[in-house]
Amino acid sequence: MLLELSGIKKSFKNGSRYESILENLDFKVFKGDSIAIKGKSGCGKSTLLNILGGLIFFEEGEMLFNGTNISKLTSNEWAEYRKKNISFVTQNFNLLDDRNVFDNIALPLQYIRMPKKEIKSRVEKVLHDLEIQHAMKRNISTLSGGERQRVAIARAIVKEPSILLADEPTGSLDEETEKSILRIFDELHHKGMTLIIVTHDDSVSSHCQHIYELYHKKLNYVNS
Ligand SMILES: Nc1ncnc2c1ncn2[C@@H]1O[C@H](COP(=O)(O)OP(=O)(O)OP(=O)(O)O)[C@@H](O)[C@H]1O
Ligand SMILES: [Mg+2]
Repeated sequence: MLLELSGIKKSFKNGSRYESILENLDFKVFKGDSIAIKGKSGCGKSTLLNILGGLIFFEEGEMLFNGTNISKLTSNEWAEYRKKNISFVTQNFNLLDDRNVFDNIALPLQYIRMPKKEIKSRVEKVLHDLEIQHAMKRNISTLSGGERQRVAIARAIVKEPSILLADEPTGSLDEETEKSILRIFDELHHKGMTLIIVTHDDSVSSHCQHIYELYHKKLNYVNS
């Protein structure tokens, strides 16, 4: 098993008291799975992805990665976990607005100190795959919503991580662009990447092997 959550509890402060968002949540992810997570706005989907990505902590429960308990890592160890294993397409994209498209996509590769030449060829390939080569030199602040979304996806997949976490990755895309993104996700899945995708979109979830719904603070299996 690649990832296993058991008995997870996560609360946030709401006014003067703490309110639990996730409670006694279990989740098992096998290597190479493609998983869709659905659920109403505010039910905790992004919170769950943030936990899986090692970005936020939880109060109760355990998280295992490849059988090792990683619940109590130091912040340096969490950073290492993220760097080695995780890529994220966040809901607000988190792009660097004052840099151009190429630089944004190259960032995770510079972070792992990949040689410049390889960075260039990798970035050019994803630019081409996502049909944003024309925008390579443009600043993020000048792009449309759908273009930004494609840059965020490109930046996440360029590293070819073992786990891709994507939060509503096709939210503001037209049907045709969405299809090309789904094709890319299929390719990544065939390469053995593990995909965990939060989505409201049935055409995205029907592309996944497993569908869960986050409901009443837990994950419920919808189908296979
Ligand atoms: N840092 C935080 N501090 C306080 N409350 C938070 C924090 N992050 C999330 N919440 C609350 O936790 C709940 C779950 O938020 P989350 O973003 O996980 O929902 P979601 O399922 O992703 O919703 P959406 O579909 O709208 O993106 C919400 O009520 C939200 O207000
Ligand atoms: Mg969300």
